[in-house]
Amino acid sequence: MSPVVKVRDPSLAERGRVQIEWAERHMPVLMRIRERFRKERPLEGIKIAASLHVTKETAVLVRTLIAGGAQVALAPCNPLSTQDDVAAALAEEGVYVYAWRGMSERDYYNAIGNALSIEPDITMDDGADVITTFHKLALGVEDDTTRWARETAGERDYSKLIEKVLGGTEETTTGVIRIRAMERQGILRYPVIAVNESYTKFMFDNRYGTGQSTWDGILRATNILVAGKVVVVAGYGWVGRGVAMRARGLGARRVIVTEVNPVRALEAVMDGFEVMPMIRAAEIGDIFITATGNMKVIRREHMERMKDGAILANAGHFNVEIWIPDLEELAVSKREIRPGVTEYTLRNGRKLYLLGEGRLVNLVCAEGHPSEVMDMSFSNQALAVEYLVKNRGRLEKKVYKLPDELDTEVARLKLQSMNIEIDELTEEQRKYLESWTTGT
Ligand code: NAI
Repeated sequence: MSPVVKVRDPSLAERGRVQIEWAERHMPVLMRIRERFRKERPLEGIKIAASLHVTKETAVLVRTLIAGGAQVALAPCNPLSTQDDVAAALAEEGVYVYAWRGMSERDYYNAIGNALSIEPDITMDDGADVITTFHKLALGVEDDTTRWARETAGERDYSKLIEKVLGGTEETTTGVIRIRAMERQGILRYPVIAVNESYTKFMFDNRYGTGQSTWDGILRATNILVAGKVVVVAGYGWVGRGVAMRARGLGARRVIVTEVNPVRALEAVMDGFEVMPMIRAAEIGDIFITATGNMKVIRREHMERMKDGAILANAGHFNVEIWIPDLEELAVSKREIRPGVTEYTLRNGRKLYLLGEGRLVNLVCAEGHPSEVMDMSFSNQALAVEYLVKNRGRLEKKVYKLPDELDTEVARLKLQSMNIEIDELTEEQRKYLESWTTGT
């Protein structure tokens, strides 16, 4: 079987093209890399199986990889985040897109299987579903995900196919955690670049991108006023920091952080936020946002204590942070009150409002990160793919960070695109910083 194209509505292509054009205007660094790729063709003949949110920014990345000579089969990395117009536009341009908004779980793994049927040289992930499914297939694991993937990928010798893979890339914290677990268990079959570990990725995308777009999703879904509200942010990692910072900027009356890590909790306190356990915050909050990458962070005992009208949203990668089975069990009824807003009426008579089915609220209820920030994340992705090709055969079956020079280069180009100049070290300063002999 070869990859096929399956999108919601091909007639949306024109609308999608205009959206992509808008993103391209705001992604100058990636566009510069595209120009270079077009001239140098570093990815000639490389086949890429990608699982990314199918958004206008991803389209800019895909076009860049194609300009470099690659062939791309694109699956989503979340069943609800696909922008159908963008998917249609990419399909028209010859990309093997298999994605539409509102896929079932089976469709989703059919999409992953479709991407794998390109017989990739490189896998590209946001959340690690392609790489984990590929490894499960190679190891002969039988479960729903592998069965559904094989429905589109067909019967192949996956253990042989996986041996020819040059490497993979991973975009997000949760995906890196999963791939590091594979590395620890000794089952990782090819090198992976943890794009998330580039400074020009996590410090900007996770913090400023999610910080803004999470609020964009909450506001588009609910149209509530944040000023005067009590906001509870679970997790004070890069995402949590951004979400908490922007809650304050929108005028929240109190911003409460919950944590399990003492250092992060202390940082939140010194950044001026209140810190307390979720069980106490549950009684106080008007809006709850999870950003931990962990499961069951908001569960039954918390839901039972929440105020009538509390809003629950998740910014973490999977829909496990707000434990929906508990919400379903506690509820006597539920209805969709606005697109993306489910009202649960609990046995105690209170109503709780879950946004975007507990999935990434910024992608389900809005459009994901602004293009400016994806410019840096996806420049790292493009450079990571080039790096894997250039270093073919030289890397071990391990998780790597992109070299610092490439990370710094992304920052340099971004500053240049913003017309911001910085100082350079003088020769004397360089020597001073490298020496140990000079004291006061
Ligand atoms: P991180 O590792 O920097 O931070 C996570 C924080 O959550 C840590 O400080 C950890 O101690 C804390 N935590 C873990 N369990 C907790 C619990 N039960 N209660 C309270 N705190 C807990 O990770 P980062 O980069 O902030 O990412 C968080 C999640 O967001 C990941 O799933 C990541 O993949 C996802 N993400 C989502 C984006 C989006 O577009 N919505 C963009 C970037 C990342």
